[in-house]
Amino acid sequence: MAGRQPCDSLWLGADIVTLRDGRYHLQPAGAIAVRAGRILWCGAEADAGDFAAAQVTRFTGGIITPGLVDCHTHLVFGGDRSDEFAQRLEGVTYADIAARGGGILGTVRATRAASQAALQQQAAARIACLLAEGVTLLEIKSGYGLDVASELRMLQTIRALGDALPLTIKATCLAAHAVPPEFAGDPDGWIDCIVHQLLPRVAQAGLADAVDAFCEHLAFTPAQVARVFDAAQSLGLPVKLHAEQLSALGGSSLAARYHALSADHLEYITEDDVRAMAASGTVAVLLPGAYYLLRETRCPPVALFRQYGVPMALASDSNPGTSPVLSLRLMLNMACTLFGLTPEEALAGVTLWGARALGEAHQRGSIEAGKYADFVHWPVAHPAQLVYWLGGQIPCQTIVNGERRQ
Ligand code: NIG
Ligand code: FE
Repeated sequence: MAGRQPCDSLWLGADIVTLRDGRYHLQPAGAIAVRAGRILWCGAEADAGDFAAAQVTRFTGGIITPGLVDCHTHLVFGGDRSDEFAQRLEGVTYADIAARGGGILGTVRATRAASQAALQQQAAARIACLLAEGVTLLEIKSGYGLDVASELRMLQTIRALGDALPLTIKATCLAAHAVPPEFAGDPDGWIDCIVHQLLPRVAQAGLADAVDAFCEHLAFTPAQVARVFDAAQSLGLPVKLHAEQLSALGGSSLAARYHALSADHLEYITEDDVRAMAASGTVAVLLPGAYYLLRETRCPPVALFRQYGVPMALASDSNPGTSPVLSLRLMLNMACTLFGLTPEEALAGVTLWGARALGEAHQRGSIEAGKYADFVHWPVAHPAQLVYWLGGQIPCQTIVNGERRQ
């Protein structure tokens, strides 16, 4: 028919939850036209006759959401820390374990000892759990190497996973995660090494998309973090920060001063910090898995984030210590039950705001013309059903860059 726009594929037969602006914006009986991996058009099925598609997929009901985004993980690591889980249940704290050389440093030993092939294969098995839940954009941090060669090897492993697996993976350099054994008692020596040796090599090889640090009394001070951030920015790398997880050090205000993409955890954040994040447009990444597994009692101040208009993302924080979590949907439920988010806020947290926490919101995270065609079909009647079920699997079909994943 004359005047019909050609496209590669047309997807019909479901309600579309676009998550534009972080709201559901439900399009009943919707349709999506895809061309060259991007969304050409999204609207009512009744108007889809304007498109001539090479391939048409008709679902029988259900909903389509944007692909899910897990914007904070530590999925590449060696070993496991189930022994520490048992100790913590007996009252030993995370800080006690770290002070004894366990915790992050235990995983550093196991990660250094593992081959790159083993690290990649074990991480791929964990990522398979996220793929089965509709994750299309994933961030993975380094931070268990803690010497130049081992950090580079972790980042190379993350890049290799991105090349091998059917989703987009962003790599974050988290060398300022803990003081390595070689620099015991000399945290500034490790910061020097990060600033002068590691980050220039990371940037030159294009191995990271962002730089993170752990700002905490058992890790690095705001002044040390600022040195890492200065170096990152001079190399053109955006920053993000683990801040206010166990105590209030003002890390989130520091992050805001550097226009960080996100500040993450935030149980101990103050109102001044929240104001600073709002002014800089920094996303608050909430991590209910770590909160739950550390049996933290203080919640991040969701009411303040709402009041000041700070977007809230949610992530698994998947790591062998504080958050051995392999389900992002579980985080949706926990963010609502534990932190008081609405199901709509929770879904926005694993789509549009997760994408923004990775600097990707201009091209991923919602169903809008011009963005990459990353979306998921779910056999449910309403998006809140993705949030309210605890456990189990909802069999979904995932489309990444316009192609069906499985
Ligand atoms: O996000 N806070 C620091 N990093 C991780 C924990 C890493 C670990 O214990 O291995 C977190 O919770
Ligand atoms: Fe983390």
